[in-house]
Amino acid sequence: MNIFTKTKDIEEYLLQLRQAGKTTGFVATMGALHQGHLSLIQQAQQSNDVVICSIFVNPTQFNDPADLEKYPRPIADDIQKLEQAGCDILFNPEVSEIYADHEQWHLNIGELEHLLEGKFRPGHYQGVTQVVYKLFNIIKPDTAYFGQKDYQQVMVISKMVQLLNMPVKLVMCAILREPDGLAMSSRNIHLTADDREHSLILSKTLNWVKDNFDSDKIVEIKAAAEQQITSEPGVELEYFEIVDGDTLHPANQNTKNIVALLAARVGKTRLIDNMIIRP
Ligand code: PAF
Repeated sequence: MNIFTKTKDIEEYLLQLRQAGKTTGFVATMGALHQGHLSLIQQAQQSNDVVICSIFVNPTQFNDPADLEKYPRPIADDIQKLEQAGCDILFNPEVSEIYADHEQWHLNIGELEHLLEGKFRPGHYQGVTQVVYKLFNIIKPDTAYFGQKDYQQVMVISKMVQLLNMPVKLVMCAILREPDGLAMSSRNIHLTADDREHSLILSKTLNWVKDNFDSDKIVEIKAAAEQQITSEPGVELEYFEIVDGDTLHPANQNTKNIVALLAARVGKTRLIDNMIIRP
């Protein structure tokens, strides 16, 4: 695997590959790679000549400095996982390589910025669009792969690509779960053994909603789901919403694409999860 830390170097290298007619698939990450990330790499490998992964813990998308500080950074382990997965190129820049001092950024992505995650993490999606815009400009991928676990993030990036006419195709890849149902996440390593046990209520409730969706009114299903989660010790629910998967507005019985999304604090760790209820 070729590893680049400098923008200029990776740009030159990728230009040569593009000139040779190679297609490129890109997986942007903040490291602490798990099987979920590796499944994105695998999916990218199936449809592209060359796969590029970036590892960059993006400071501008953290609204809590303590969260940024404790974000895991096991770079040697990550490199080994990428090598084993057969990833071709890693871009692992320093913060100073991506951002000039006091850089300002604002992209009007409309209400997407303030709904659900946006309400609880002000400024988060501005940081995400800022870094993904830069990474797309450096890598210029044909196709970029993002996980469904960050469902709203995929919508936000898709909105940016549409607004700025960026020449990249986006693919949303299914959530990977542990055998007991917990959605894979870099943050799971912060869960204590008790937290880990309590966290299972999140995927259990999403499955219950999917299985029981047609048995009652949406408001009743939502209330029952909230009740299940808030009854679990050690779990503090931030939101549980059943929405139109195209707009993130509350769904009704006639909505075609329905997604249930949630965020909760389990012990000290904030987790998100979602499930497509009606595709
Ligand atoms: O999903 C993530 O890991 C990050 O939000 C991303 C897309 C790599 C941008 O920093």
